[in-house]
Amino acid sequence: MDVSQFCLEGKVALITGGSRGIGEVTAIGFAKAGADVVVASRKLPGLETVAGAVTDIGRKALAVEAHIGRMDQIRNLVEKVVAEFGRIDILVNNAGTSIAASAMDIEEKAWDAVMNLNLKGLFFLSQAAARIMKNNGGGKIINVASIDGYEAQPETCVYSVAKTAVRMATKVMAKEWAQYNIRVNAIAPGYIETHLLNAKWWDLSDEETKEAKAEMAEGIPLGRIGDPVEIANAMIYLASDASSYVTGQTFLVDGGVLL
Ligand SMILES: NC(=O)c1ccc[n+]([C@@H]2O[C@H](COP(=O)([O-])OP(=O)(O)OC[C@H]3O[C@@H](n4cnc5c(N)ncnc54)[C@H](OP(=O)(O)O)[C@@H]3O)[C@@H](O)[C@H]2O)c1
Repeated sequence: MDVSQFCLEGKVALITGGSRGIGEVTAIGFAKAGADVVVASRKLPGLETVAGAVTDIGRKALAVEAHIGRMDQIRNLVEKVVAEFGRIDILVNNAGTSIAASAMDIEEKAWDAVMNLNLKGLFFLSQAAARIMKNNGGGKIINVASIDGYEAQPETCVYSVAKTAVRMATKVMAKEWAQYNIRVNAIAPGYIETHLLNAKWWDLSDEETKEAKAEMAEGIPLGRIGDPVEIANAMIYLASDASSYVTGQTFLVDGGVLL
């Protein structure tokens, strides 16, 4: 066994939602593993900080402002990456959002916002990247799903529907694009310490949030909320040649919470 198979040296990776949370830590992890990294999201300041961290590691970086729920901005993003690097070897469809709403109350605007980012944008960015990867001999796509795509939880309605569909989109793309040497997998995180998780408790005091988190941790077999780096580690496996015989899979990284 050769551990250099985990290396991403010479690869160009595009990570959406790369300005904070799981995307930020993955960008830095990929750079440490040797990749040049493009980070994309709606707000440039956060992206520029992450791009700075990537260049400090000694890799090339590009920060691109892009709303992944909008087709014109997806096209613009891909054009910018190709203009700068000439190719995309790894795409991480990480940008995602959740709106707390029950099936009884959700409104069309909220439904569209979540679906356009978490599913439509993920699909069409994958399609655009796959066309480039096909011409360059292959690539890897990693989609970010969720434990909420397995189990119905209160108030997650459209998010859960979108994340379940991400698992099937992963399988469809993997099956069709295997012939082009494009591997497509997904990671389904459990509860991970990020802005998105903390938004669950936006209306609680610090003390109440601490208690809510302790209660959440009690329901997780490994006894704690996950760290974004624990998702980034799995990303490196799926983005590298170490996972060369894996495609179409959704990899649960959840501390055992679904057990
Ligand atoms: N944290 C968890 O417990 C957990 C669990 C399961 C799944 N996940 C999934 O993990 C992924 C990353 O989440 P996270 O926890 O790291 O959340 P986060 O800290 O809130 O980060 C979300 C990222 O997505 C970007 N983003 C949001 N809307 C966007 C849009 N319309 N277009 C482009 N970028 C957009 C944000 O940047 P801007 O604001 O600059 O756009 C940010 O970079 C998501 O797909 C989420 O569903 C997270």
